[in-house]
Amino acid sequence: MSKVLSAVAWPYANGPRHIGHVAGFGVPSDVFSRYMRMAGHDVLMVSGTDEHGTPILIAADEAGVTPQELADQNHRIIAEDLVALGISYDLYTRTTTRNHTAVVQELFTGVYDNGYFIEQTTYGAISPSTGRTLPDRYIEGTCPICDYPSARGDQCDNCGNQLDPADLINPRSRINGEVPEFVETQHFFLDLPALADALKVWLDEREATGLWRPNVIRFSQNILEDIRPRAMTRDIDWGIPVPLDGWRDNPTKRLYVWFDAVIGYLSASIEWARRTGDEDRWREWWNDPESLSYYFMGKDNITFHSQIWPAELLAYSGKGDKGGKPGEYGELNLPTEVVSSEFLTMEGKKFSSSQRVVIYVRDLLSRYQPDAFRYFVAAAGPENQDSDFTWSEFVRRTNDELVAGWGNLVNRTANMIAKSFGEIPAAGELGAEDQALLDHVDAAYGVVGDLIGRHRQKGAIGEAMRAVAEVNKYVSDNEPWKLKGDDERERLGTILHVVAQCVADLNRILSPFLPFSANAVDAVLGGSGEVQPMPRLEEADDLDGGAGYPVITGDYTGAARWERSPIKVGTPVSKPVPVFTKLDPAVVDEELARLTS
Ligand code: MF3
Ligand code: ZN
Repeated sequence: MSKVLSAVAWPYANGPRHIGHVAGFGVPSDVFSRYMRMAGHDVLMVSGTDEHGTPILIAADEAGVTPQELADQNHRIIAEDLVALGISYDLYTRTTTRNHTAVVQELFTGVYDNGYFIEQTTYGAISPSTGRTLPDRYIEGTCPICDYPSARGDQCDNCGNQLDPADLINPRSRINGEVPEFVETQHFFLDLPALADALKVWLDEREATGLWRPNVIRFSQNILEDIRPRAMTRDIDWGIPVPLDGWRDNPTKRLYVWFDAVIGYLSASIEWARRTGDEDRWREWWNDPESLSYYFMGKDNITFHSQIWPAELLAYSGKGDKGGKPGEYGELNLPTEVVSSEFLTMEGKKFSSSQRVVIYVRDLLSRYQPDAFRYFVAAAGPENQDSDFTWSEFVRRTNDELVAGWGNLVNRTANMIAKSFGEIPAAGELGAEDQALLDHVDAAYGVVGDLIGRHRQKGAIGEAMRAVAEVNKYVSDNEPWKLKGDDERERLGTILHVVAQCVADLNRILSPFLPFSANAVDAVLGGSGEVQPMPRLEEADDLDGGAGYPVITGDYTGAARWERSPIKVGTPVSKPVPVFTKLDPAVVDEELARLTS
């Protein structure tokens, strides 16, 4: 049994989330965490809403509200959506809490005291009309290298070169078109070159495990090649103050959103421990080198999780070229694995709210079952290559695989038992074929569990559904509905007992993927319907006297074990209500019409 940290990427508060976001970080992290708990590990699953940074400031300006108001609204919406998807966080919090501020400032101070911040003067762009800083990617101009007319201040999408906004020819603001002014400004740069050797040792060690996805480890090693100091402060008034004299009270200098967001994994663990009343408990996941940590995200986040965050952890722990000593949190564990998915597209295009190529989580869940979506993501999501969500494929997977495969097996099993016995029948003597099926399904715990543990969820759900097909075949081959005579009753009971045991097993095996229906299927077979505990939204106080806020939490200790549990003969089973909803093929045209209307 291990301590396992499930660290899930923090969604931005600049708007509600669409299914592409949650396909990347949400479903995979939940499947993994639910499985690891069932397998007996001590899982701490944390995340929250990422509320600082320029996009939120801009969205707030557009909406005519303060950034805090915008973040409040969206934090609540996002948290509600994640609960509706069944994502089993121990704590889902946010970055505008006093606890988070304090933890981020402690990390900054530790890194600073160990000498890993370099103060430098650079040129920053400001908007003459508002006096506000213009971040690099909000400036556009002609690329000085390839003449591409709409290069961004941070990079040119045409030639791929990294740029400095001051290099652009004819620079202009992407917000209102005006010409930015460049002024001198001071910033703190994280001394990444002084941490490069330690990062390399860590990455080489990770590579040797063979566990990371090849593209993730390769990308992470590549970006070490031309590692440079990186600014961890910004000229912005929305963010966490820099905890140094002369900076603390300066209203226009704040920590860079990514510096603070990744620290959320630690601050949320600390907040969780404080809320349990055992305030040092987080240390079991962070200070014990035997503890494991898995970080779930989309591929645009890899740099921040395989370079910036480990660099912050090394610098704080005093483990780079400049040495140093750990701060009050002690030596902190580096990620065991950065589990990054690729991108989901929709109907062949990139998701885009402005071009209406989008379906928000909330809208999807108002019309379809969460498990139908979770099934789609597990079976056809962007696990190790980009993948496409289409409505026709969603309907096909739901109807042909989930409903016709699994749902039908559950239904016909319960129907036959209800009709012939009204309760789980006892088995007579097992034939070779009966035993083979039971053994085959029992072996699926090992096969599927191993694949989920290694983040091969597509393979895992494929194996589980293959076992479902085996059981369906056994039913069709044995034709229990033809066994009507008194002399055939024992054989009928045996077949239905074997099938019911297999359905109960497969329900456990599928439950990390399909937690809502797992509880419903359990109830269909006369169980208590508590295979997979569910998260809940709770109104919480800020622990340090700030404004209260909703959090997601839950008690998942009652989850079923990842092993066969013999079904109980005599458990009443009545005629079932189907667990899965078959979709009308007309849904495809309706949804496509919604996209363009
Ligand atoms: N908000 C970022 C995004 O949606 C993810 C942040 S992950 C964190 O891309 F750990 F840094 F918070
Ligand atoms: Zn260019």
